Amino acid sequence: MAMVNTREMFKKAYRGGYAIGAFNINNMEIIQAVTEAAAELNSPVILQVSKSALEYAHAPYLIGMVRAAVEETGVELALHLDHGPDFETCKKCVDCGFTSVMIDASSLPFEQNAELTAKVVEYAHKYDVTVEAELGRLAGIEDEVNVSSDHAFYTDPADAVKFVELSGCDSLAIAIGTSHGAYKFSGKAELRMDILREIQALMPEYPIVLHGASSVDPKVIDVINEFGGNMKSAAGVPEHILREASSLAVCKINMDTDIRLAMTAAIRKVFAQKPDVFDPRKYLGAARADIKETVKHKITYVLGSDNKA
Ligand code: G3H
Ligand code: 13P
Ligand code: ZN
Repeated sequence: MAMVNTREMFKKAYRGGYAIGAFNINNMEIIQAVTEAAAELNSPVILQVSKSALEYAHAPYLIGMVRAAVEETGVELALHLDHGPDFETCKKCVDCGFTSVMIDASSLPFEQNAELTAKVVEYAHKYDVTVEAELGRLAGIEDEVNVSSDHAFYTDPADAVKFVELSGCDSLAIAIGTSHGAYKFSGKAELRMDILREIQALMPEYPIVLHGASSVDPKVIDVINEFGGNMKSAAGVPEHILREASSLAVCKINMDTDIRLAMTAAIRKVFAQKPDVFDPRKYLGAARADIKETVKHKITYVLGSDNKA
């Protein structure tokens, strides 16, 4: 199985009422955990790389490891640029073998966002690379992605239609109340599903993307806090809401925080319970096993993408 773009993946996901998990990768253990989980459950998957992940690990390492994972596991996989900040970064990723890119110009005014997205689409489509864009802005702070909640706003459904027509993007990330990071809601967790339904009614068959969709499992937070961490008020998107979204027009669900939390909890636990351990394989191996279980849980109970490869 070679790497694929997201076109067929999303078409099947839309019609089948499930979503593809898009997991952020930075290192070998995460890549192995996600691809092994997907392979064992016969699920398609998207591995996504942010600009800061590219700066941390360097494209040749990440691409080399992703190719190795495809070879080893035979998984159906798209390699995607997450939150591409400009044309140059998108072009570099297209040129070095990514099968999908996101241009995130959501902080620009509507026309400029559409114009820049169209430019990326024109380039990427020459190489059969699919393009995700974003309209509306998410609250939350996460390294490269930093939007104060005062400036976060929901996606307007009529604008979404106009934007897709103007830009030609293959999928669209929308803002319906999710946010990046581990502190998403201080009160009741609610998403604007009415906006999602309205967009779906206006653009039937069009794939929608949900960013900031980690669930921040309280049991994992408890482990982190029990073993020296301090993440008391962490909260994420409840799984049943994500399952509902994936049965609607949402074809791609982005999760990074839940991978980070699983890894952190596992490593903290090893350090606290076995203070004599200093072999990185012991704690990174434990982290890899827990990430794999997390991804298997997502595929089965949140995405519904098992046996869909
Ligand atoms: O949405 C952002 C992702 O979680 C990537 O975060 O820029 O810290 O790699 P990052
Ligand atoms: P989370 O922070 O909720 O995991 O969202 C990740 C994301 O949207 C990556 O683009
Ligand atoms: Zn995101």
